[in-house]
Amino acid sequence: MNDPIPTPNFIGMLLECQQDALDAIADAEKSVDRLRIELLGGKSELAKLTKQIRLVPAVDRAQVGTVVNQVKQTILQALAARGTTQQTKTTLSFDPTMPGIEPPEGHLHIVTQAIEEITRIFERISFIRVRHPEVDWDWYAFGSLNMPENHPARDEWETFFIEAFPDRKKFPIRERTIRNRIVLTPHTSNGQVREMEKGVLPIRMINIAKCYRRQIDVSHTPMFHQFEGLYIDHEVSIGHLKGVLDYFAKQFFGPSRTTRIRPFHFQFTEPSFEVDVTCGVCLGKGCKLCKGGWLELGGAGMVHPVVLKHGGVDTTKYNGFAFGWGVERCYMMKAGTQLDDIRLLYSNDVRFLEQF
Ligand code: PHE
Repeated sequence: MNDPIPTPNFIGMLLECQQDALDAIADAEKSVDRLRIELLGGKSELAKLTKQIRLVPAVDRAQVGTVVNQVKQTILQALAARGTTQQTKTTLSFDPTMPGIEPPEGHLHIVTQAIEEITRIFERISFIRVRHPEVDWDWYAFGSLNMPENHPARDEWETFFIEAFPDRKKFPIRERTIRNRIVLTPHTSNGQVREMEKGVLPIRMINIAKCYRRQIDVSHTPMFHQFEGLYIDHEVSIGHLKGVLDYFAKQFFGPSRTTRIRPFHFQFTEPSFEVDVTCGVCLGKGCKLCKGGWLELGGAGMVHPVVLKHGGVDTTKYNGFAFGWGVERCYMMKAGTQLDDIRLLYSNDVRFLEQF
């Protein structure tokens, strides 16, 4: 064991050891970690040879030492190369037959869904959806609807006024009563006279728009939506109005829900009604949302002759009805929504919205 080894023999043993190591590394069976221990560890062939350097003639030991190092580097490089090729192999392994990862899919907001459903229901009875301004002259929101400046009836609509001071001298004198103050529309009734001004009769309008009132609680948000129906034709009666309301209630809420009509007062309809539907959360028993089992949908009535005149409609030939209901309220009253706080609709919480 301690016999001197001639230098060429020793270098031959080193090169053999290197070749064996490279063969072992090429063998895919063994893991890189195991190979590292077997080929470079304390018990490896290379370690044994390193210990035997002292048996080489002293003059050649430095040269032999360099070869030992070269062999070690070659083995290390081969191990490292196998490590990376294996890693690349795993990252590149791709099975095109695997099912893909579905990207998250959104949907229309439930209020938009409700608006579309309401539109479809009225389209079936020839009402046409129109849009009118959501920021409008006080005249269309109040004045033209038989509510002059400072009329107490205006208190019902907790209105946001816009701080805009239009230069009224720019308008012709006859228009100066119209172009006065500007409001965020507190209801969709501003569309009534605007629609009449188009001058096309008969009118079957469904105006769905944003409305704004200074109010917030479980059944109110400062911004909400209304849908306003307006029907102007010859000899229109309360019976026609009732028929349209019942038709809508059946289509939208389903047969288990009932409606009632109560006498009411609006400046712009005569006679006027308030329409209620049994609450969709408690179905008439009374709960935190509705209190008495009934939820108010909104108003309705026969269009006041003053309003028709403001819209340029000949009241000797035409009359009509109008109604204005809240979209969000209607949605909450629908069977199955179980929604007992209207503010959730605008809290932008995806966990809530994605349930629908
Ligand atoms: N604009 C009324 C409101 O906001 C509702 C209404 C519309 C009443 C049309 C009668 C006719 O309360």
